[in-house]
Amino acid sequence: MPALRIDGYVIVSADGMLANAAHVMPDELKFEGDKRFFTAALDRADVIVHGRHSYEDQPNSPRRKRIIVTRSIAAIAPDRSNPKATLWNPAGAAFEAACDHAGVRSGTVAIIGGPDVFGMFMDRYDTFWLSQAPRVRLPGGEPCFPGVPERSPQAILAAHGLKAGEAQILDTAAGVSVTPWRRAV
Ligand SMILES: NC(=O)c1ccc[n+]([C@@H]2O[C@H](COP(=O)([O-])OP(=O)(O)OC[C@H]3O[C@@H](n4cnc5c(N)ncnc54)[C@H](OP(=O)(O)O)[C@@H]3O)[C@@H](O)[C@H]2O)c1
Repeated sequence: MPALRIDGYVIVSADGMLANAAHVMPDELKFEGDKRFFTAALDRADVIVHGRHSYEDQPNSPRRKRIIVTRSIAAIAPDRSNPKATLWNPAGAAFEAACDHAGVRSGTVAIIGGPDVFGMFMDRYDTFWLSQAPRVRLPGGEPCFPGVPERSPQAILAAHGLKAGEAQILDTAAGVSVTPWRRAV
């Protein structure tokens, strides 16, 4: 049994985008129900992992341990601007070494993007929580995973050994739901 559980979180438009053409997550992709779900998950996580532009910017953010993926350092370094953050370059060090630096040897890791960071963990997720906003389209936007839009986000998760569980509705009026994609054992 691995000591670290790895979960992923994203909300995507009907066309599989996590941000618009300007690489910004637009307000039309933000829903209170999804925000509540995401916030609760991050509050339970032992460490969160993201690229430089995917800081979640929530009231509880300063309390969270985080690993920031960056090419600005060779391997692993403390973040001088945030005592709870570790900088990690995957080209120079293993993920476990970054967790070790962050003081996390067991528990839950939440991967929150962007696309390349999601892609790095595709074969390691225990569960990927895919939120979908079926009435939002972001033409020319930023695909949620490497390989989208040629393949759907669902096809990519399935190709990496994950299977869809039962969806939960997060916003009835907007039809927003979240589906857990769990690793088949
Ligand atoms: N809809 C959602 O649920 C959701 C989820 C996540 C993000 N978003 C949005 O999507 C956009 C994502 O921005 P983004 O595409 O710029 O992604 P990002 O992953 O947040 O940031 C990219 C940066 O991460 C670092 N990075 C990425 N891959 C790396 C690698 N293989 N090795 C080392 N460093 C790496 C680099 O940092 P350095 O430049 O420091 O080297 C790169 O410039 C934002 O607008 C964000 O708000 C939406």
